Amino acid sequence: MDLRGKTIVLTGASGGIGEEAARQLAQAGARLCLVARREEELQRVQQAIEAGGGWARSYACDLSDPADLDRCADRLLAENPRIDVLVNNAARSIRRPIREALDRVHDYERTMQLNYFGALRLTLRLLPRFLEQGAGHVVNISTMSSQVPIPLFSAYLASKSALESFSRSLNAELAHKGVSCTVVYFPMVRTPMSSKTAIYKHMPMMDSAKAAGWIVEAAAKRPARVSSPLGTLGGLAMAALPGVVTRLSQPLFRQMDRQLKKKLERD
Ligand SMILES: NC(=O)c1ccc[n+]([C@@H]2O[C@H](COP(=O)([O-])OP(=O)(O)OC[C@H]3O[C@@H](n4cnc5c(N)ncnc54)[C@H](OP(=O)(O)O)[C@@H]3O)[C@@H](O)[C@H]2O)c1
Repeated sequence: MDLRGKTIVLTGASGGIGEEAARQLAQAGARLCLVARREEELQRVQQAIEAGGGWARSYACDLSDPADLDRCADRLLAENPRIDVLVNNAARSIRRPIREALDRVHDYERTMQLNYFGALRLTLRLLPRFLEQGAGHVVNISTMSSQVPIPLFSAYLASKSALESFSRSLNAELAHKGVSCTVVYFPMVRTPMSSKTAIYKHMPMMDSAKAAGWIVEAAAKRPARVSSPLGTLGGLAMAALPGVVTRLSQPLFRQMDRQLKKKLERD
């Protein structure tokens, strides 16, 4: 699909992968509605796009606050007669062992509130417009860590799995009405989110420009999934032999963590 003149609502556009995706989508000719909490950062991204000859508007919003999200959705719908694509990219991540989260149900509630309910609520608000148009596409950002059995991210991964499951239902129910959905499974990407974990300093990661290219691909080609070959293989292995794959992979993850810690200590 040619993205020229298409209106794209992109959440988490004030930094990380979202900021880079906003630039690349604008370069492809799309009109960008930029959503995130930090207004000044959104303005900075908007101005950079406008300076490059593109079109963008800022919509400051805390997507974990349903009332604020509803206000933002009202504005998006009122100011944009047509919306072609919604990219649910904003998210928060928590890295914590389950044994240290025994009295922290709020970890699980907070990640669900933004990563699942925020994305879901915005999708449901824009869906009537998509159906009216007879066309619309949702890009839901997930992670390769939900394709393979990664430890220490239970709250984050549960919220992403919920979003993936909703995405499958959306495709199953509404593809014949012109409304479709892509799930993007990123591997580790060097951004403010991944930089919060000190031991990941020496882990090889994808850069945010390449990751943003996956979002452009999802918006333009609209496949059901954008994934790395390793993620797809991991997903297949987990579907076939979940017990074996989990047993074999966990010592490798522990070893990787030990090696990354050693490298950090040597710094
Ligand atoms: N980085 C990775 O290694 C990695 C790997 C796999 C998947 N992913 C996924 O890729 C996506 C982008 O991640 P990233 O690494 O670019 O993250 P990031 O650098 O932390 O950026 C997150 C974005 O979400 C926005 N955001 C956070 N909380 C929000 C809220 N309550 N309401 C509205 N916006 C909010 C932030 O802006 P404000 O602070 O201005 O609100 C920011 O623009 C996420 O869905 C993440 O789960 C990332």
